[in-house]
Amino acid sequence: MKFTKANGLRGEVTIPGDKSISHRSVMIGSLAQGDTEIRRFLQGADCLSTIDCFRNMGIEIENRGETVIVHGKGLHGLQKPECVLDCGNSGTTTRLISGILAAQDFTVTLTGDASIQKRPMKRIITPLSGMGANIRSIPDNGCAPLEIKGSRLHGIHYLSPVASAQVKSAILLAGLYAEGETRVTEPQLSRNHTELMLSHFGADVRTEGTTAVIQPARELTAHSITVPGDISSAAYFIAAGILVPGSEILLKDVGINPTRAGILEVCRMMGANLEILNRRGESEPSADILVRSCSLHGTEIGGAIIPTLIDELPMIAAMACFADGTTVIRDAAELKVKESNRIEGMVRSLSAMGADVTETEDGMIIHGGRPLHGAVIDSRLDHRIAMTFAVTACCAEGKTEIKGAECVNISYPDFYQDLERLKQS
Ligand code: S3P
Repeated sequence: MKFTKANGLRGEVTIPGDKSISHRSVMIGSLAQGDTEIRRFLQGADCLSTIDCFRNMGIEIENRGETVIVHGKGLHGLQKPECVLDCGNSGTTTRLISGILAAQDFTVTLTGDASIQKRPMKRIITPLSGMGANIRSIPDNGCAPLEIKGSRLHGIHYLSPVASAQVKSAILLAGLYAEGETRVTEPQLSRNHTELMLSHFGADVRTEGTTAVIQPARELTAHSITVPGDISSAAYFIAAGILVPGSEILLKDVGINPTRAGILEVCRMMGANLEILNRRGESEPSADILVRSCSLHGTEIGGAIIPTLIDELPMIAAMACFADGTTVIRDAAELKVKESNRIEGMVRSLSAMGADVTETEDGMIIHGGRPLHGAVIDSRLDHRIAMTFAVTACCAEGKTEIKGAECVNISYPDFYQDLERLKQS
């Protein structure tokens, strides 16, 4: 797919539903007693993989498009699937579902696409095994396919070496079934959607600093959910609105949970003036975000803010190329184990467009201010890389071609149409 420089981007975008929350609403809805109506469910391939997995375990799920209805069967209502569970490209599906499967009374095999089969699963195998789970990597390399034999679990206090909501959530979901209390302490607080939703559904879960604590549950009660817009998807339009001169974009109803909203803080640190309007929502807050074009300056990004913007770092790195001065991104080694190695991929592709970017052990150093030119970009079938370069191309001279651009269907199927609409108004 080919992209060229844009003039002002103007108009409104209703950002599709949050991917993390959409996954969790299907999983937790399936384990609850009763019907969970999910409004603004993200119809991305990742979330559809989660629906498929639970349908294969006997849960009736009506997908009506914007709205999905999960007919939950309670904590002990899942049935042994007759096939291998396929998580597609979705790390969230693979890791979170493992926590649930570890406690069932059947055995399953879990797999996914080529990217999933390279991603580290030891990070969940270790703590779940510590709870008594019987889970192994079939190729014996710490990756999927995984064989999970349901077992009786007991609570643990797990000190996680990484700030990962996927790891934390797998343990908390297993903790629903464990004997005794389960605690997970992270080096920094990662997104807390699982804690919020479990609590909303009646589980006894609390947060003490960077520790999440859950008690075993007898039952969860179904609740309706309205999913806020995904700030990780909004990030592309935040960046585009700032970078393309003459832009003004209103992003409607975007989730601004503080464990996800680091990009807003980084934009402020870089000199952008975003207006946060019409705040709403309770446990999951959301707001409209008004973005106008402006100039940026470099900044330093590291420490506790990293988990709150982990998926936005590719876009932030590209933004830094247009900022005055130097931007340093550190403490972000997790980027190497996402859908692709996002440090290596970003450095290679930004350099191909003429940027001054250096890879470090745990991030990047970007000297901004060089004009960028079009190039051929390999998305490596990583949705966040494809969207980052579609936006970067709007600010580069000449043509940019993105290979494998269709992979945006993972988290934002209408992304290119939404971007195109803003170009025309
Ligand atoms: C997610 C957590 C993050 C994030 C991923 C979605 C989630 O991964 O990168 O896109 O829904 O819990 P880690 O928990 O592995 O950092």
